[in-house]
Amino acid sequence: MLSRMASVEDLRARARRRLPHFAFDFFDGGAETESNLRRNRAAFEAVTLQPRALVDVSKIDTSVCLFGQDYALPFGVAPMGFLNLAWPGTDLALARLAAEKRMPIGASTAASTSLEAIAEAAEGHAWFQLYVSTDKDWVSSLLDRAWAAGFRVLLLTVDSAKPGKRDRDIRNGLQIPFRPTLGHMLDLARHPRWSLATLKAGLPRFANAVGPNSPFSSAIPLTELQRRMISDSFDWEDLKRLRSRWKGSLVLKGLLNPDDSRLAVAAGCDGIMVSNHGGRQIDYGPTSLEVLPAIRDTVKGRAELLIDSGIRRGADLIRAKAYGASMALLGRPFAYGAGAGGADGCRQAAETVETELTRALGQLGVVDFNRVDESLVLRGSDSWAPWSNR
Ligand SMILES: Cc1cc2nc3c(=O)[nH]c(=O)nc-3n(C[C@H](O)[C@H](O)[C@H](O)COP(=O)(O)O)c2cc1C
Repeated sequence: MLSRMASVEDLRARARRRLPHFAFDFFDGGAETESNLRRNRAAFEAVTLQPRALVDVSKIDTSVCLFGQDYALPFGVAPMGFLNLAWPGTDLALARLAAEKRMPIGASTAASTSLEAIAEAAEGHAWFQLYVSTDKDWVSSLLDRAWAAGFRVLLLTVDSAKPGKRDRDIRNGLQIPFRPTLGHMLDLARHPRWSLATLKAGLPRFANAVGPNSPFSSAIPLTELQRRMISDSFDWEDLKRLRSRWKGSLVLKGLLNPDDSRLAVAAGCDGIMVSNHGGRQIDYGPTSLEVLPAIRDTVKGRAELLIDSGIRRGADLIRAKAYGASMALLGRPFAYGAGAGGADGCRQAAETVETELTRALGQLGVVDFNRVDESLVLRGSDSWAPWSNR
């Protein structure tokens, strides 16, 4: 059992000790210089929230309604591939946690557990994340499988037409499926608990595409896997075709440009997830929070706005909501939790952020998360950001 961790940062520190170096780097790393990783945090931290006093905050409501479904929390688990590399069974532990906490969870195309198993464990709380591959039949079968498994929200990731260049993974020689080198063996020997648990459970697989005909069965570097799995020619016309094929809610994940958000609304998307993929794709673009107000002002309520990238504290959810995002997904906090202590660590990640959120709302004098708006932001506190010149 994992001792009580105070924060997501503490979970990260524990995961760093427990995981082999190459596995920790896979979760923790970003693209190239990783400046977007740092900027993701700086953007949230720059926004000062101004409290109101003498408000009865004995009852606080954190629930939100999205795509016709009620969620108890305004945050959930971002889709992450190969999550069972953090600890065996992580995908299912998180899916069960999502059902229990009534929060959404993204099931990745590249998950290490099948989309059907995640859907079953999440009891109606799972959203399917699609990477559109060049193999049209495979995409079509994934959509059919997702619908049959009960998914009604599709997160279509649109920020990965070219793979992110993650220097740490290149240095570490990470390949999927995993083929250990001598360096990896030494790394594994230094982390016997992880190594034994992972060997016993079997190395994580690309569970949505197993079998002899899978285009992903041989060992290839991670960037090559991304290149094969994600088409680089998918465009707005293709999106329109996908829109007419998918009968559920459709959310574009990874938009950072207000002009694109206008096109997304015109194409009939139900939601826009403002995201820089946690700083794992481009290293020189904006943070999600920086562009959120301009996207909000363009969309004008015609689609739901969601956000991810860099959220580590409960107050970050309030900052994001103040600029227009009603739901946030967290990626690494749950990966750190799993690495730190399996299912228990995942729970601690969720409960830490939940506690911080409820306390921050109370401290700010806000009883209902849905009532958070820009008036909470101390004017000028975000003066470094482009939106403050509006
Ligand atoms: C290890 C890892 C794997 C990821 N895999 C996917 C994926 O398969 N599909 C996807 O759309 N996003 C993927 N992402 C991006 C997340 O969905 C999300 O955008 C990002 O983690 C949010 O930033 P945060 O980690 O700072 O919370 C991945 C992120 C991480 C850290």
